[in-house]
Amino acid sequence: MTRREELRSASEALREVGSRARVYVSMPIIDGITPRVLVDSPGPVVEDAHGLPRKDGIFRLDEVGLSPMDHVALYGDGVFEGMLIRNRSIFLYREHMDRLDASMEKVSVALPISRYDLTERLLETCRAVDLGDGPGYIRLVVTRGMGDLGINPRKCVTPTIFAIVSTIRLYAPEAYERGIRLGLSRQMRRPDRAILDPNIKSNNYLNNVLALIEGTADQGLAEALMLTHSGYVAEATVDNIFSVRKYPGWEHDPSKVEVRTPSSEYCLVGITRGTVMELAEKRGYKVIVRDDLLPIDLVGPEKECFMTGTGAGVMPITAIEAVTVGNGAPGPVTRQLVEDINALMDDPANGLGLDTPSEELAAIIDDVQTAID
Ligand SMILES: Cc1ncc(COP(=O)(O)O)c(C=O)c1O
Repeated sequence: MTRREELRSASEALREVGSRARVYVSMPIIDGITPRVLVDSPGPVVEDAHGLPRKDGIFRLDEVGLSPMDHVALYGDGVFEGMLIRNRSIFLYREHMDRLDASMEKVSVALPISRYDLTERLLETCRAVDLGDGPGYIRLVVTRGMGDLGINPRKCVTPTIFAIVSTIRLYAPEAYERGIRLGLSRQMRRPDRAILDPNIKSNNYLNNVLALIEGTADQGLAEALMLTHSGYVAEATVDNIFSVRKYPGWEHDPSKVEVRTPSSEYCLVGITRGTVMELAEKRGYKVIVRDDLLPIDLVGPEKECFMTGTGAGVMPITAIEAVTVGNGAPGPVTRQLVEDINALMDDPANGLGLDTPSEELAAIIDDVQTAID
């Protein structure tokens, strides 16, 4: 694809998102700073947990803006979650909200409204989007908030929250049949906890963006593997990675199948990663967390490889760069796990229904009110 074709395709994709998506926005009211559309919108002004006046609303994407003074825009200072909607249910909603809490705690940001209120408004936003029969996606962001031009978070007001709800289709159905080839980022590495904890799901993705640029320089690649500083397998740029090793007799004895994934020291504790580990255990496979997996361990005969993520689900990997995994086609263990996760995602009981009445929400939502100092 030429750059011109890429740009045209990107504009078309954006237009499509713009025609469907809705965004929930919640901000403190600061005269001269908070976008007027929000200030002038009909909703009530409420007091947030710190007594600041605050307002929220549900808008089309072209109706509202983020303040240029928000530290998520200035410094990438914010945390987020990406959630999947299937069959009018937000898959593993509680797990995503708990991980959001964990990220917020690590960066000393607290939700300025209750989890209950946020959930109610998120569901309202989802219901305002025409998802058709396909899956939907929620990008929920909690920012440091609006502040002056310095990086000091103490000079920021309470967090901005926004959530984009839209349709999603990351990979074509054929990709799950054939598998995809993964690139490898050699120069750009996954930082460890001493640099940027992989378990802060922050809006600072520049490292991953650079790894993606480097690792997908070959046409047709969509994802790239990242290594740790020492050269061990960490994760892909927005997905976790798994390697399957099959020992003689595995066809009749699932305990002879090892499903290996890197340690969470090196990668995000993916919600899909955790779900797949449980699914693999249920199948009788041995699940092993390793901190010394090398790229060479993922390829070759008697191996399978796949990546996991909210958008990708379980995606078979059939080659890393030019080196084939197994026989170059998705293997039986991977196919089984693709089927298993699809069955889980399709079952609305595994998530929060979009049409859950407000009266029932209280019983479902744990109101975790993170302490604010
Ligand atoms: C760096 C990174 N690793 C892994 C994942 C997969 O996590 P999950 O399964 O929770 O979507 C993501 C998803 O956003 C990610 O950004």
